[in-house]
Amino acid sequence: MAISRRDLFLAGGAALISRSSLGAADSGSGMITISPSPKDLETPVGDFVNVITPTEHFFVRCHTMTPEVKLADWKLEVTGLVDRPGSLTMADLKKLPRVSMQAVLECAGNGRSFYQPRMPGAQWKFGSVGNAVWTGVRLRDVLAKFNLKSGGKHLLFDGADVPIGKMQDFQRTIPVEKGLDPDTILAYEMNGKPLTAEHGFPLRVVAPGWASDSWVKWLRKIDVLDHEFDGFWMKTAYRHPAQHVPPGTAVDPKDMVPVTDLNVKSLIATPNEWAAPGTVTIKGVAWSNASPVTKVDVSVDGGKTWNAAKLGAKPTKYGFRAFNHVWKAPEGSHVLMARATNAAGQVQPVEPEWNPNGYLYNAAQPRPITVSKSPQALASVSDPSAASAPGVYKAACTGCHDDHFVSQQRLTRAQWDREVTKMTGWGAEVKAEDRAALLDYLAATFKP
Ligand code: HEC
Repeated sequence: MAISRRDLFLAGGAALISRSSLGAADSGSGMITISPSPKDLETPVGDFVNVITPTEHFFVRCHTMTPEVKLADWKLEVTGLVDRPGSLTMADLKKLPRVSMQAVLECAGNGRSFYQPRMPGAQWKFGSVGNAVWTGVRLRDVLAKFNLKSGGKHLLFDGADVPIGKMQDFQRTIPVEKGLDPDTILAYEMNGKPLTAEHGFPLRVVAPGWASDSWVKWLRKIDVLDHEFDGFWMKTAYRHPAQHVPPGTAVDPKDMVPVTDLNVKSLIATPNEWAAPGTVTIKGVAWSNASPVTKVDVSVDGGKTWNAAKLGAKPTKYGFRAFNHVWKAPEGSHVLMARATNAAGQVQPVEPEWNPNGYLYNAAQPRPITVSKSPQALASVSDPSAASAPGVYKAACTGCHDDHFVSQQRLTRAQWDREVTKMTGWGAEVKAEDRAALLDYLAATFKP
């Protein structure tokens, strides 16, 4: 029987385990903490033996503090290019036809930490992705109540979250065609229960096949515009080059396009890092955009040869597809890989498609594994710590968030310079005479 690191963890083998490059769970929640506040949590790979990701193990991505919305004070307002601007209560929404669907939610930045050269941002590895059953109403049924004007081309979503410091409010548009797609819904339930606060209570956008930046949480307003919104979160963040660029290229946001469709992708859940010799079932999940997964290949020799994996029955249009491959595992070191293909013929690349903001990583990621009779003490990769940080860092950089965001970065001095400029733009206070010392510290401690 193959024992994953998560199984070991659950069996009390915690002494073997420390924070590793493959994402062992932090003790407590069983999730990997990217940032405790704003709350960003990653799902450990072992959880992806499930086709439906349990809500309590579903990744969390928040740009700001999680708002606590009270239903009694809440309504959904619809304004802009509609004939009858107005609002709906939750009771009004629940009178519209109820629809339920599985759909994969994946952060555009999932896998960012694997890109070389590195870039700033939440350093996600494998698990800012999950598959849930979302229940709610079709967005087009909601819009029909207000009657879209013909000039309405983009739907601006605003949630109840409040920006931190001087950062811009998290607001995003999707084109009206995506909004009118019968598969685009406003969900009030996740996995059969009302949304939790972290997942957007009371209402969130479900834009299936698209990355999660379009799945706005805590939705309270839809403004129908005749143009794509010009805020920071549309025109600077969440953009990638339309064409492939060589790794390390700087690209002006103007020359990039908004992130929309997910890439076809797969993830090996088990075994993870270690297995006992003998028959090992390699298991995982694969997902895609609107074009479903049709094939998953598995390699046990680092990509030299590939074997077609067995796919789980009954695929849903936007959900995870399970796969498994039975392997006679000999003792020694091996590299596992999985590579999915979709109906449109898109295949996971072996080489990552680098882009300046680190979005939509979908390379077939090599997963080194030791096959041995007893579990090895696994080497731990410890993050540099900010414990001995100078006063200037403590004063300027720990007011809004703790060290997590900083200590996970691996950046050059020039990249740190831009990051400090971004943070001072949001309200961090760095005196001109302290800036060089701060950059010296950041560039020396959290370097590539
Ligand atoms: C006014 C509040 C505030 C201060 C002060 C602040 N930050 Fe941030 N920082 C944020 C927020 C909010 C985020 C999360 C943004 C998100 O999730 O999109 C963040 C995220 C980050 C990240 C993750 C990458 C990114 O750009 O999202 C890094 C690195 C970072 N901060 C570094 C710093 C450094 C270094 C300092 C001190 C110079 C600092 N921060 C001070 C608000 C602040």
